[in-house]
Amino acid sequence: MGDQISANAEKVLKVLKRSKSVFLPIRRIAASSGLSRFNAYRSIYELQNWGYEIELKKERGYRLREITDLLFPFEIKDNLRTKVLGQQVYVYQTVKSTNLVAYKLAEAGSPEGTLVISERQTAGKGRMGRSWFSPARLGLWVSLILRPTIPPSSVAGLSVCAGLALAVTIQKLFGLEAKVKWPNDCVLEQRKLGGILLELSAEMDQTKFVIMGVGINVNQRRGDFPATLQDKATSVRIEWGERVSRLEVLKCFLERFEKIYLLFKKRGLRAFRHEIKKYSSILKKEVKVKFGHQTITGMAWDIDDKGFLLVKTKEKIETIVAGEVSLLLPRD
Ligand code: BTN
Repeated sequence: MGDQISANAEKVLKVLKRSKSVFLPIRRIAASSGLSRFNAYRSIYELQNWGYEIELKKERGYRLREITDLLFPFEIKDNLRTKVLGQQVYVYQTVKSTNLVAYKLAEAGSPEGTLVISERQTAGKGRMGRSWFSPARLGLWVSLILRPTIPPSSVAGLSVCAGLALAVTIQKLFGLEAKVKWPNDCVLEQRKLGGILLELSAEMDQTKFVIMGVGINVNQRRGDFPATLQDKATSVRIEWGERVSRLEVLKCFLERFEKIYLLFKKRGLRAFRHEIKKYSSILKKEVKVKFGHQTITGMAWDIDDKGFLLVKTKEKIETIVAGEVSLLLPRD
C-alpha cells in the first residue's frame, strides 16, 4: 500500500457512501463504480486496510459501518467551501514536519492556499525550537502556503488570525469555550488544544511566502499524551467526551480562516480586533510575559491593531511584539 489511496478504491468508497446504511451486493458495487467484480473486491480489501470499517452481511453485501475519518485529498475537498485554501492538497502518512514539506513546495512555486497534511509527524516543530507531539490519526497536523503582499513586520498578525479561526471553529462546532492565548495558542480551560507556527521567507521588506503550521489536538485521550503534557494539553475528544470527525474540524477551520485571512489582507487586524479581544484567554488578567531576555508582570491590557499585546505594569504600558505569556494565579 502506497501513500495514497488508489483511484479504484476511491470509486468504491463513493458508491458505499452514497448507499449510506444500505447493504450493497458486490455486483451492484462493481456496476456502480465501473469496475470488474474482482477489482471491486480488491478495492474493498484496500479500503479495509486503510482503516475504513466495511461490514459484510451474507447474501446482502457490504456497507460502510461509519464514516471513517481519513484525511485523503478527495475527502478534504468534498464539500469544502473555500475559494483559495485547500484547492491544492498534499496528504502524507508520515513526514518529519508538514512545515518542512510546505516550505519546499513553496520554494518550488506552489500557489497560495496549498495545504499539506500528514497523519503523523516524526519531528513536528513547535515554537521556540520545541517539538510538537503529533501521533498518527489523532490530530490535525497541517501547513498552509500563504503569499500575502504585506510587509514581514505584519506577518505575526496571521498567527492571531489563525488562533481566532480555531477558537471560533471549536466554539461553533462543539459549543466548547475555546479561547485564543496570545499570540499563537488555542486553549480550553487554559490547557493547550492547538498551536500555530509561522515560518517566513522574505527579502528586505517584501514577504515572499509564509508557511502557517497548525497543530490541533482532536481525538487524543488523556493517556495518549506523554506524561509531561497530560496537565498542559487537551483535545476536543477529552473536552467533548467522544471521538469527533477530524475532517469536519479541518473544513470548518479552513472556511473560517479563509474569511478572516482575506479580510486581514485588505484591512489588517483592525477589522476584527473586537472579536480577537472577545476570544482572548488573557485580557484583563494578571500575567507574566517573557520576551527576549526580559520578564515582566502586569495586566494583559489590550491587543492593538497590529496584534501586539499591551501589558500594564506598575510603571507604564509595555508593547509586546512577541513573547511567552503565562497567567499569574490570583492571590488569596
Ligand atoms: C506551538 O504552539 O508551539 C506551535 C505548534 C505548531 C505545530 C504544527 S503541526 C503542523 C505544523 N508542522 C510542524 O512541524 N509544526 C506545525
